[in-house]
Amino acid sequence: MGLINFLKEQGVDEKLIKEAEYFKTYYKLDEKIKDRIPEAPGYFYGKNIWNMCLSALLEGENILLSGPKATGKNLLSDNLCTLFGRPQWNVSFHVNTDSASLIGTDTFVDNEVKLRKGAVYECAIHGGFGVFDEINMAKNDAIVVLHSALDYRKIIDIPGYEKIRLHEATRFIGTMNYEYAGTKDLNEALVSRFLVIDIPSVDKEKLMLILGREFPESDVEKLGQFAGLFLDLQQKSDNGEISTKAVDLRGIIACIRTIRRGLKPRLAVSMGVTGKTFDQYEKEIVGDVIRTRVPDSWSSKDLFPGK
Ligand SMILES: Nc1ncnc2c1ncn2[C@@H]1O[C@H](COP(=O)(O)OP(=O)(O)OP(=O)(O)O)[C@@H](O)[C@H]1O
Ligand SMILES: [Mg+2]
Repeated sequence: MGLINFLKEQGVDEKLIKEAEYFKTYYKLDEKIKDRIPEAPGYFYGKNIWNMCLSALLEGENILLSGPKATGKNLLSDNLCTLFGRPQWNVSFHVNTDSASLIGTDTFVDNEVKLRKGAVYECAIHGGFGVFDEINMAKNDAIVVLHSALDYRKIIDIPGYEKIRLHEATRFIGTMNYEYAGTKDLNEALVSRFLVIDIPSVDKEKLMLILGREFPESDVEKLGQFAGLFLDLQQKSDNGEISTKAVDLRGIIACIRTIRRGLKPRLAVSMGVTGKTFDQYEKEIVGDVIRTRVPDSWSSKDLFPGK
């Protein structure tokens, strides 16, 4: 199923979908950057999140996706690029991110100083969607250079560079995870330049949709136990009994993939779930939950009977 039909099925506002499609045909693209448009199928976020993203982007706003790890923030950014038909430039922010790494650096080519364009520069001239990954990892003074690009001015004007006016289709999508150690509180002036969309942790219904689509050939009831395992751990983490380390959708999905490959489920969860925490006490609590959900007797065939 194409992305558009998927969104309609999710109940996303059809007027917004139409306008996004119009955006895609209205802003033309250089052939040579077409391969920067991700090909993402729709993912499950619920219609409200989609409606928020679409209306904000259509209004020319930048959005900040904030939420716990593995809630699909990057996938959502990919999906938005696909839907709007825009090339993506991704910048992973870290403590050493500086304006040069964002905008560009001077290099010597044939005895001449040339600007090696950074991701934000490329995005600005091509009308790309710039994904600022883990934006709260960067030092605030490094991002101040982006302020004029992110507000109504829509320009990059830094001494030593030529002034760049952003292509009309340019948008920026920040992602942030407020749980990691090392994340910083975002500066108010920066947050003020984004509309913020909270991406919640998955609930049971969404989780079954995600897992069901990933593993259509699995035994639904047993797959439900893996969903249950994830949700039990999420609950324990919400109650403060364990940290968020073992609550990892990425880990669960990877673990089920290794089971499909033939690995014994208990070994798979030791890699995908228990192994994610390094605290002995926490490992024991996680182990207790696993014992109630994934019997030691299970083999790969229990989950994937057709294999
Ligand atoms: N809504 C969803 N629909 C489908 N798959 C999802 C969804 N949310 C998470 N996933 C699964 O979780 C994985 C993580 O997604 P993604 O990398 O986009 O998360 P993230 O929020 O950017 O995580 P992090 O904060 O750790 O960077 C994906 O590979 C996908 O398998
Ligand atoms: Mg991410």
